[in-house]
Amino acid sequence: MYIRVLGSGAGGGFPQWNCNCPNCSGVRSGRIKATARTQSSIAVSADGGDWILFNASPDIRAQLAAFPSLQPGRQVRDTAIRAILLVDAQIDHTTGLLMLREHTAPWDIYCTAAVRQDLTTGFPIFNILGHFRGINWHEVLTDQSDFTIPGAAGLVFTAVPLKSEAPPYSPHRHNTVPGDNIGVRVRDERTGRTLFYAPGLGRIDASVLAYMEAADCLLVDGTLWRDDEMIECGIGDKLGSAMGHLDQSGRGGLMEHLSRLARPRKILIHINNTNPILDEESRERRTLEQADIEVAFDGMEITL
Ligand code: MLT
Ligand code: MN
Ligand code: ZN
Repeated sequence: MYIRVLGSGAGGGFPQWNCNCPNCSGVRSGRIKATARTQSSIAVSADGGDWILFNASPDIRAQLAAFPSLQPGRQVRDTAIRAILLVDAQIDHTTGLLMLREHTAPWDIYCTAAVRQDLTTGFPIFNILGHFRGINWHEVLTDQSDFTIPGAAGLVFTAVPLKSEAPPYSPHRHNTVPGDNIGVRVRDERTGRTLFYAPGLGRIDASVLAYMEAADCLLVDGTLWRDDEMIECGIGDKLGSAMGHLDQSGRGGLMEHLSRLARPRKILIHINNTNPILDEESRERRTLEQADIEVAFDGMEITL
């Protein structure tokens, strides 16, 4: 299985257009050693020819341009993206669907009933696409049953319901339901190897931990180093936990969980622009390196 990180940043990207936090101003001025990042998305393929897009970021045009495999050029209108899988209904994961409206056929979109509800009510992007070529919605169940996607022969997918938050415009904003946010296990039937992808991981319970332990590679929530990081930077009053993101460094945080896992390669993704790990010379980045935890970057390629 081939995995391409299209966008490794969280909502807003890095640097964020209106942000002058130490990281955003630092990368703009060259004061810190860091690389810009587009918003959260990956592509996965069994054969390197046909690809499944995981999340459609507002930065999708730049991401496609940076990855020529997604434009094979076989006919006047073409793409190597066979289907789209959404892990939640957040703006950074869905707005790119609007940029893909010129597709010549209805898009095959895989998401849970909860995400579909958000995307037909509070943020009715599916309805809007209905005025173009439309979409074929394929329900992703949260019972952890395996499913396959035409165009991704050889890959088997499993959705794992996560405790996270629904977006602000969701009808279930304050009473989250299973399926508001999922992690996805992808297994390559040929190599037997597995990826676990979860860019929004609010809490790690026993069920999620079992998937993480058994995976060969993790691409998991790297949003914040500290739960109160955005407050510390003076850019808001929201804790990471209130947004459904588990921090890395706190007690019971992501690093504590990852340190107990022997098997998987551990990679952080969906990194918020305030996170000190973006500074490659920071103490926090060194701490990750010592724990064998990698930080995803745009264009990163993983073969499993
Ligand atoms: C999140 O991951 O919490 C959201 O994408 C935040 C946002 O709206 O940018
Ligand atoms: Mn996000
Ligand atoms: Zn910033």
